[in-house]
Amino acid sequence: MTKKFNVAVVGATGAVGTEMMHLLEERRFPVKNFYAVASSRSKGKKAFFNKEEYTIQALDEFSFENIDIVFSSPGGAVSKKYVPRAVSEGAVVIDNTSAFRHDPAVPLVVPEVNPEAAARHHGLLANPNCSTIQMVVALHPLRELSRIKRVVVSTYQAVSGSGTKAIFELEDQVQSFVDGGDLVNKEYPHQIAFNCLPHIDVFQDNLYSKEEMKMVNETRKIFEDEEVMVSATAVRVPVFRGHSEAIWVETEEKIDPEKARRALKESPAIVVQDEPEKNIYPLAVNCRHQDPVYVGRIREDISCSNGLVMWVVADNIRKGAALNTVQIAELLVHKKLL
Ligand code: A2P
Repeated sequence: MTKKFNVAVVGATGAVGTEMMHLLEERRFPVKNFYAVASSRSKGKKAFFNKEEYTIQALDEFSFENIDIVFSSPGGAVSKKYVPRAVSEGAVVIDNTSAFRHDPAVPLVVPEVNPEAAARHHGLLANPNCSTIQMVVALHPLRELSRIKRVVVSTYQAVSGSGTKAIFELEDQVQSFVDGGDLVNKEYPHQIAFNCLPHIDVFQDNLYSKEEMKMVNETRKIFEDEEVMVSATAVRVPVFRGHSEAIWVETEEKIDPEKARRALKESPAIVVQDEPEKNIYPLAVNCRHQDPVYVGRIREDISCSNGLVMWVVADNIRKGAALNTVQIAELLVHKKLL
């Protein structure tokens, strides 16, 4: 008989938490008892899982002693505070925030790329940033053809990456624009409707944003290659769901674009959509609620000798967050690491 686990979702009312619950249902994760946890503001509200109603519990009052695995997405500051307690109470936590990603003792896992790292966990595993996940999934098949020396990436990131309130802000601004009213900015420093903001997370001393530096540091950690050079510009765009990325890759050996296309097609996590003459290429609107990372516009980088360019799109809430977290849990179950 399949072993079943006591599961808690922390951040159960949020954009990622709700998707985690859908995926646990959809992928039939072996759940014995289920617990929905959020802030004290949501205490007593109802959540549905596997057609049953659950009362949301407040994180501050919740004990993890009886919990086998925690799917965690309550924001970095909250995770930093509660995760050590959850681990010491005996739960294994998969955290979707940036709180522990750079801790050398915490594996940062994308199951299609570095599943072996999961075995090194001590009760806590981290899910990478959404923009890193889809990028490393698309780079991984190329790494098997040649070492990657340098990556330059520009992102076009959906507002759902900033949480539920940002989704409403874009909706409200579009509605106000149509109605001729004032556009109110709360979640972002500027109007997001009909605009592009080259600003995701806070700016660092080196003038890159924290989101951009996540892509640098997380890629190095996942690839276990401190020498790989990455430079990112992360841009928030008025898209509800689905991050797009233009990626320039420089490799040690030259990779023919056709060979790259074949290698990408072989990855179980990737769907290649690359028939530009028929207007076929990955689009954010088509990736919504889908599992794969979509890759297209694969071509030679004419600005350097060993370079490729590609356009990579994925559902940031799914593969970029909830799906990757659930896949890490499935890996732990499969490898008996729970
Ligand atoms: P709540 O709805 O009770 O505030 P999103 O990223 O979509 O904004 O969701 C954030 C998630 O994190 C929500 O489920 C939110 O719950 C939860 N959360 C925020 N602050 C806390 C906190 N202090 N303790 C527990 N959960 C929190």
